[in-house]
Amino acid sequence: MNLEVIILAAGQGTRMKSSKPKVLHDLAGRPMLEHVIGTAHEMNSARIHVVYGHGGDQIHEQLGHQEVDWVEQSEQLGTGHAVLQAIPGVSQDCVVLILYGDVPLIQKNTLERLVETANERQMGLLTIALPDPGGYGRIVRDEKGQVIRIVEHKDASTEQQKINEINTGIMAARASHLKKWLGQLDNNNSQGEYYLTDIIEMAVNDNVKVLATTTEDEVEVTGINDRVQLEQMERACQRRQAETLMRNGVTLADAGRFDCRGECKTGHDVFIDVNAILEGNVTLGDRVKIGPNVLIRNSTIHDDVEILANSIIDQAEVGGHSHIGPFARLRPGSMLSENTHIGNFVEIKKSTVGKGSKINHLSYIGDSEIGSSVNIGAGTITCNYDGANKFKTIIGNNCFIGSGTQLVAPVTIGKGSTIGAGSTITRDTPEVKLTLSRSKQVTIESWQRPRKKKK
Ligand code: UD1
Ligand code: MG
Repeated sequence: MNLEVIILAAGQGTRMKSSKPKVLHDLAGRPMLEHVIGTAHEMNSARIHVVYGHGGDQIHEQLGHQEVDWVEQSEQLGTGHAVLQAIPGVSQDCVVLILYGDVPLIQKNTLERLVETANERQMGLLTIALPDPGGYGRIVRDEKGQVIRIVEHKDASTEQQKINEINTGIMAARASHLKKWLGQLDNNNSQGEYYLTDIIEMAVNDNVKVLATTTEDEVEVTGINDRVQLEQMERACQRRQAETLMRNGVTLADAGRFDCRGECKTGHDVFIDVNAILEGNVTLGDRVKIGPNVLIRNSTIHDDVEILANSIIDQAEVGGHSHIGPFARLRPGSMLSENTHIGNFVEIKKSTVGKGSKINHLSYIGDSEIGSSVNIGAGTITCNYDGANKFKTIIGNNCFIGSGTQLVAPVTIGKGSTIGAGSTITRDTPEVKLTLSRSKQVTIESWQRPRKKKK
């Protein structure tokens, strides 16, 4: 039988004190709602319905591209009312799984166990025993241990408040059952809301057994209501991702000082020192070593590369056996071949660097094509911008560019040529020859150092 998922995400999240809806706050670099949609997709669901309310425009702007059925709940009249809004779009013959946009770390395995319990004679409820169950709906069982009801904290008697098995809110039931029960909900309770939880009693009355699936992992059923919980869940999420990486052959100096905000593919024997941030899609080959305080965004780092401390790599590709940093900055479109050396305070933008080339100190290379085995001396600048347009610098294989050189683009440095230190090169240079532009050195014999005037 098909599975359809309904994700409740209409609440504003007042406690976030934010102008954006709660479910758009980022967890590990993605809106928390996107995590839940992702998990729903992993479940191979036939359809995913997202019930939204507050901040609809912002939600559409950020997540409108997602393959889901968007359902508006213009007034938040309760969880039962929210599910009811999605029901017209749910097919009759399916199992419905209800998830929450602000419970982002729910695990596929747990949900699979839960969904399996939903059939013609049963429905499934995900519960957890908490030492401090305050605020949650409590699971009421009869003397045989069967679930018979959920009572909301605000409606619970003192005796019921002592129950520590709570409703996570996540449940699975046949669509035909849900449709019937939701139609019978009322808002006769202390909050004047249509409680989804009231369907439990209706199920029992219809001889549909309510089977509780439990989890021991509090993190996966924790909802985020404020920024303190957001930070706690961020760390929990990072811890999870770090453990996955370590199990896949990555050594982390400190999993507590590692952040992956996106997706990271890693080879074996990778070493990552403290305070690394990986954003977007990052690929790290075998034996890549990353020093402290390194930011890598949407980049591919090939095998045996070493990235030294305090480097920033953004939308770049680094060929195998290269050395980058410390304090290097690779900007979008930097394509480095194998065995390149990029040293401290070197900035590279939209440029290719050939095999074995070295740019070791204090240089700016922009809009350039640099051949193989080129050595670029300290303080070299490609002057790629005239204030209006950008131009290209081409440097052939085996060139040696002396320190402190300005290459005024558009310009081509012929293969194998040497540029004398301190040159300003404005025209193309011939292959193999030495080219330099330098004013004559003079010494002024009569010159004396100025002295302080006597008062
Ligand atoms: C709900 C459960 C409670 C459970 C708890 C778990 C009910 C009546 N109670 O309580 O048993 O222990 O979750 O966290 O279901 N939402 C909408 N539209 C609405 C109301 C809510 O989309 O009209 C969404 C919220 O955005 C949120 C979720 O549903 O993501 C839960 O709503 P919330 O108000 O937090 O329910 P609780 O009172 O915490
Ligand atoms: Mg809640």
